[in-house]
Parts: sequence; structure tokens; C-alpha cells
Amino acid sequence: MSDSPLSVYPVKPQIQATAHVRSMAEYERLYRLSLDNPEWFWGEQAKTLSWFHPWTQVFDADYDAVDFAWYSGGRLNACYNCVDRHLPTRGDQTAIIWAADEPGVYKHITYRELKHDVCRIANVLIAHGVRKGDRVCIYMPMIPETVATMLACARIGAVHSVVFGGFSAESLRDRIIDAGCKVVVTANVGMRGGREIPLKTITDRAVDGLSLVESVLVARRTDKEVPMRQGRDHWLDDEMRKQRSTCTVEWMGSEDPLFILYTSGSTGKPKGVLHTTAGYMVYAAFTHKTVFDYRDGDVYCCAADVGWITGHSYIVYGPLANGATTVLFESVPTYPNAGRYWQVVDDLGINIFYTAPTALRAIAQAGDEPVRKSSRASLRILGSVGEPINPEIWRWYHDVVGEGRCAVVDTWWQTETGGILISPLPGVTPAKPGSATLPFFGVKPLVVDPESGKIIEGNGVSGALCLSTPWPGQARTVWGDHERFKLTYFSQYKPYYFTGDGCRRDEDGYYWITGRIDDVLNVSGHRLGTAEVESALVAHEAVAEAAVVGFPHDIKGTGIYAYVLIGAEYQDRDPAQLEGALKEQVRHAIGAFATPDVIHIAPGLPKTRSGKIMRRILRKIASSEYTGLGDTTTLAEPEVVDKLVAQHRLRFPSKE
Ligand code: WT7
Repeated sequence: MSDSPLSVYPVKPQIQATAHVRSMAEYERLYRLSLDNPEWFWGEQAKTLSWFHPWTQVFDADYDAVDFAWYSGGRLNACYNCVDRHLPTRGDQTAIIWAADEPGVYKHITYRELKHDVCRIANVLIAHGVRKGDRVCIYMPMIPETVATMLACARIGAVHSVVFGGFSAESLRDRIIDAGCKVVVTANVGMRGGREIPLKTITDRAVDGLSLVESVLVARRTDKEVPMRQGRDHWLDDEMRKQRSTCTVEWMGSEDPLFILYTSGSTGKPKGVLHTTAGYMVYAAFTHKTVFDYRDGDVYCCAADVGWITGHSYIVYGPLANGATTVLFESVPTYPNAGRYWQVVDDLGINIFYTAPTALRAIAQAGDEPVRKSSRASLRILGSVGEPINPEIWRWYHDVVGEGRCAVVDTWWQTETGGILISPLPGVTPAKPGSATLPFFGVKPLVVDPESGKIIEGNGVSGALCLSTPWPGQARTVWGDHERFKLTYFSQYKPYYFTGDGCRRDEDGYYWITGRIDDVLNVSGHRLGTAEVESALVAHEAVAEAAVVGFPHDIKGTGIYAYVLIGAEYQDRDPAQLEGALKEQVRHAIGAFATPDVIHIAPGLPKTRSGKIMRRILRKIASSEYTGLGDTTTLAEPEVVDKLVAQHRLRFPSKE
């Protein structure tokens, strides 16, 4: 990665500046204002939402207790802001365009239709005993009912916990229990790339024997019949037909919970990150409008899944709060071929398109032909999120997909941040391929020395990425475990928020995210803790010990490499069969996306004399870097390293 001035993409005259911020000078002026007077700045932004009762205090914090409150005293409703308030002006405007898995199948839903669906589902939830503050688990495919169910929860003050449809029964069960969900909403099946995903069957396994779950509501994605347990399971469409299409909005306090979303960390089970109502909504709406330059009448498409934060903030809450037309893309980028995205862009006249580098890498592999088959004339802005974007892919996105006409916005943020924190503003910020560029309004990134914990000032520096200012979209706690929230994010570099990412601030003050520096892997833009994969592996009776690390992977960004020690009684097993069984074990415990790429049955693990696994060495070997392993003589068994290197060389001879 070079940050020489030659690699700067100046803003081209044909790229329109955002309607909301028109020049670098204006960005700099507003940025300074946002830091100098955050209460004024965030008070102004909040005025774009509709409030039942205005706030009395923009921001309040107890830094010792790590307790942040935004817009205290205010009352509002997220669903009202996303739906009802648009009806007088946009009742007949399309709110959601569903792009089904089957190519060419689309469904347009107006704001008025959305309101009726949302109200019916809200009434169904009420009929099944859901009240303000109750948790509802949503384990659904990318269908309109999923968005309507999220909004229905928000409408009645229930807290949703969306679980990505790729998670296994075991993961789903853990999340249902942790959040204490009394209702689970799912579908008979999901469809992805022409394949059926048995969501109801997985849900049955997840809730089996859980008295906590009183009702399972099942949306009908296809005609497929699935076993329905009497008294517990109900078809969502049947239930909706029994209900009225109006439902009173529950006016929520600004800090009332809106949703829980589980995410992986360095240690233990995934954490239920909690976002509250007002601050999250203000931040999602404002960033969506500004970073994507959303203009009235635009068709906007974020190709993420609603099971992740990107889907929450930039398919559902941000766009709908802004009265946008948002595309819900059910399929995968390679189905039926690598031109699918651009087919959808042309079919729907999409102006703003937002996806992940892993998807771009997967389709760029097929060459430019599938792109060139489409016109893409409607595109104005191209977004990237989820992982560092390789400069070559950035250029491909910009030059081939966007034909140099579109601004590329590389947006850095996290589940915990609620919305985008570092990103260019389209048509305003000169880009550098591979850099997320400059902080958003109100955001003050810090580069901290991981050794000393000291802030590194100036440009041309690298270290741990921390954030020193609060912002409305920040997570408030970990569901049921505030201590863990404090410990995970606010203890390492107290009092700053630690992101878990490493970064470099170049000579121009541009930020380059270098990836996670904790034990979290970013696999195809999905976040996974190495500890989670390890505990899935050691749950298999053959495994005595496991150590999981990441290694560079052409498509996934990071691949999963698992070193496992096998118990004595399994030593004679056929290694290929054992590897297969262990991969299956991880699929079963977490989900298919967590399947290790490599299982390395190891003779031992490099450990210090005090028993600490030297992950640095394991990462290097997995990445075929056999030199610079450091001084291994202090290890408990130094010869283990040579053995591991020899085995790795034998298995991956071409990588050297
Ligand atoms: C981690 C957060 C929030 C979007 C979806 C992922 C990595 C995210 C970028 C980017 C480099 C990025 C970071 C971050 N990441 N966006 N533009 N450039 N890295 O949310 O699952 O909470 O993961 O994704 O490592 O910490 P998440």
C-alpha cells in the first residue's frame, strides 16, 4: 500500500459533490464545529427526526460507570420515524424493493403497504404476549416480512435480536437464551443462490425443550410444508390475516433499547451489543444521508444481510428514516453468475450501491465481461464495508464497475459503533484506494501505542485505533453484562474506546485500517472469535487442544487455520476423515461460514514455559512465512516449530 500523492484519486469534476456537504472546506468547517460544540451539532441533526416529545439534554455521561445517554428526556419511536411520518408525502412511494433469490423476480412495497404489514405483525406480536421491553428473536431470510418484523418490534417497544440465517441451531439457541426471547420469528425456508436453507428445522432444534420460547411465528418463503408444533408454532401470514392494519405506536424514551445484536470478541461467547432508540436513529439517518449522498428519488441498495449491523443501519433504519427506496437483496453475488449485482442495478435503476470487498473479490475473479454486459448508467455512488479493501479491488470497483464516473466510499465502522465513523464524503474527499480516509463529523480517532498505551500524535504513525469522543450511535452496553462492556471496550486504553483494529495515519492524516489486532478474525466480512472456533473444536471428543489463527485468503480476506492436537485413542484415524469430521463439528456449532479452511493435525503447539500458546508463530506458519519466527529457544518444546513448518511446507508446497 502506497500513500504517495500519485495514488490519490482527486475528486473528478464529473462526480457531483454531495448535496449535503459540498466541499472539503465545508467538511473541515463542520468537522471542527462538531468537535468544538458537539451538543449543538448533534442537537441540530436530531431535529430531522420526528419526536413525540423533544429532548431536554443532548448528551450526558458518567465516564466512570461508562454510561452514555443521548437526547435524555425525549420520546420518539423508531418505526414511526421510518414509516408513519412519511405517509402524508410518500404513501405511494416505494419503500422496499425486494430482489428475490430468483433472478428477475422483484416486489415493490410502498410506504403505505409497509405500514399495514408492520401494524399487522405488531398486532400479531401483541396477541402472542409481546410487550414493551420484551425480546423477540428474528431468524429469517432476506424477505420483506423480516424488515416489517423488525419495525413491528420497534413500534410496540419490543427489543429485536436478529440472528443471521447462516448461524447453526446451537448458536441460535445460545442467543435466544442469552437475550431471553419469548417469541422467535422465522420462515419455513430461506433461499440463497438457488439453495434452500431449512430455517424452521434449525429453529426447532434451537428451541427444543426451551420453556422460555412461547411462540414460533413462521413466514412462508415458499410453499414448502414444515412440521408445526401445535400450540407453539403459527404461520405468520395466517396470524396477520386475523389482525387489523393499524396499531398504536409506543412512545419510547430516547435511551430505551431498540435492539440487541450479537457479535464476536476475543474471548468467551458472542456479546449482545445493545443499541438504544434516539441516538442510534439520529446517527443511522444522518450518516446514511451524508455518506451516501442520499437524494429524494434515489434507489439505494445495500447488499448486506439484515443479520449484521450493516443491514440494520443501512438497509433498514437509516434509509427508511430518510424516506428512501431501499433494495432488499436476497441472493448472493455469484448467482446465477458473477454479473448478478449489475443485472439488479440495471433492472431497478440503482443509484447507490453498497457491498463488501469479499463480494467484489469473488466477482472480479470472473473478469470484466460480466460487468460490461450491463449498463450501470444509473450508478452514482459505490460503497464498501466490512474489511479493508485491497487497492486493486478499489480500482476495479472505481474504474470498471463505476467507469470512473462514481465516487467510491470505503466506510469503516463496527457493530458497536452503530454507524459509519471513518469514510470519504462522495465528490468531496479525495480518495486513496485502500484508505477509509477521514473521520466523520463528531468522531475523533486516536492512534495509541499498544505497548505503552500512550497516544501517538502527528501524522505518519501507526498503532491501535481508539476513539476519544462519544457519538450518538455508540453501543450502550452488552446485554446483561455491563462489566463486560467496560472491560472489552473501555479498559485497555482507558478512558478511550478501543476498536480492536490496528491503523495507520498517513502523512495527510488519512486512516488506513490494517485489520484486527485482537483475537478476532474477519472472514468474508464476518466477524469470528478464534476462541469460539477453538471451543467448537475441543467439543469434539477427538480433540485435546486447538489453536485457531487467520491467514491471508484471496477471496475471504482472512481464512481460518486450525491447529489441533488429537487424543491418543484417535491417533490411528484416517486424517482426511478426521479433518472432515472436525470441519463438520464447527459448522454444527457455529455455522457454515465459520468452517475452517485448514485443519492441521499437529504434533504439539509452540508454548512458552508458562504454557502460553505463541499465536504469532502459528500465524506466521499458517501464512507460509517460515522466517523471522523469532527466538524459539525459550519455548517449552522448541522442536515443535520445526515440525509444524515441515508439515505445512509439505502440504502447501506452492505457497513459498
Ligand atoms: C470490523 C467490524 C460495520 C460493518 C460490518 C462489519 C472491519 C469494517 C471496514 C473498512 C477496514 C473494516 C474492522 C472492524 N471493518 N469496515 N471499511 N475497512 N476494516 O461489522 O462485524 O462489527 O466488524 O470490521 O476490523 O473492527 P463488524
